[in-house]
Amino acid sequence: MTQKMQVGFYGHVRQYHALKNELDQAIAEVLESGQYVMGPALARFEKELAEYFGMKHAVGLNSGTDAIWLPLLALGIGPGDEIITVTNTFFATAEAIWIVGAKAVFVDSEPKTNNIDVSKIEAAISPRTKAIIPVHLYGQCAEMDRIAALAKQHKLIVIEDCAQAIDGHGANFKVGEHSDAVATSFIIQKNLGTFGDSGAVITNREDIATGVKRLRNHGSPARSKHTFGFNSRLDDLHAAILSVKLKHLTKWTDRRREIAAMYSAGLKDTSLKLPYELPGYRHVMHLYVLETTKGKRDDLLSFLNKEGIDAKCHYPIAIHQQEGYPWGKEAAIVGGVPNSEWNAANCISLPMFPELTQDEIDYTIEKTLEWCKDNG
Ligand SMILES: Cc1ncc(COP(=O)(O)O)c(C=O)c1O
Repeated sequence: MTQKMQVGFYGHVRQYHALKNELDQAIAEVLESGQYVMGPALARFEKELAEYFGMKHAVGLNSGTDAIWLPLLALGIGPGDEIITVTNTFFATAEAIWIVGAKAVFVDSEPKTNNIDVSKIEAAISPRTKAIIPVHLYGQCAEMDRIAALAKQHKLIVIEDCAQAIDGHGANFKVGEHSDAVATSFIIQKNLGTFGDSGAVITNREDIATGVKRLRNHGSPARSKHTFGFNSRLDDLHAAILSVKLKHLTKWTDRRREIAAMYSAGLKDTSLKLPYELPGYRHVMHLYVLETTKGKRDDLLSFLNKEGIDAKCHYPIAIHQQEGYPWGKEAAIVGGVPNSEWNAANCISLPMFPELTQDEIDYTIEKTLEWCKDNG
């Protein structure tokens, strides 16, 4: 029997140590420059990010949440409008809809990928529907080509919630190719994460880029001039850190995929439902999420935690299951969400970050197999 190990869920400090020289230098350069807000480091990172996505504009913001609702606001979506999304996502997806005062209309996810079930969208479209927000859950793109076809037919805006899937792509499409804007997050735990919070909108639409730029800076198109807005700027220190890390992203994604392949090979003969990658897609394995099939998720979770493995759940309480839902906000579920509820009840995330060691990966597989042997 292998000796007990501690396997963490995140590798932030390991990543800092691996890039210490580059990061320390980038931080020092910003400090010495005297320009910390809307300065050259932000402009450089926005240019690099737009190029990375192969799109025209990237606008840095305070958070990934702002990156969802600021484009909605820039497009005039608000009270009286409906937006379709899923209930098995991080809370911020729905929160963004409510922040602009619109109604969240939830449809189910589909069981293979746990992404939005595209066949359920049409029934949820009403004359008030203005937008769809597909979430690229766990790191795999939703079926954007099918969603875009529906959106075109019904003249709907599409904002991709790409907080978890930067560097991913579909079978024959890139992120951003089939939508009006892409929202992403750089909170530390994301695949491209800074040491704190921030996010960005990436878009080919001039009106969205200009609108969001104005809204993030007190509605200001030029010094001393203001319209209505907020303060949601990505500051230069974080931008400089992100510029350093962006150069390593593809390599990190490849390593995540390698680790996922090891987990899946090790656990393939168990009753656990393993992550499924659609043919031709690049799943960036932001999270490696298993599902238990015999209703014993909490048991597996506490077993792994007791064995020193910091497994977690994403997300054990779907949005409509949160206490007090919908808090006086407008919300509806169309057609039931049985798969999203099943996902919430059975999901379990194994440690997943590029700096995991082979011993940690092997130990995690070994302990999961040990539980499976005793639990069918
Ligand atoms: C799917 C999803 N959407 C939105 C967000 C919000 O991003 P942030 O925390 O940067 O506001 C996150 C992550 O936190 C997320 O995972």
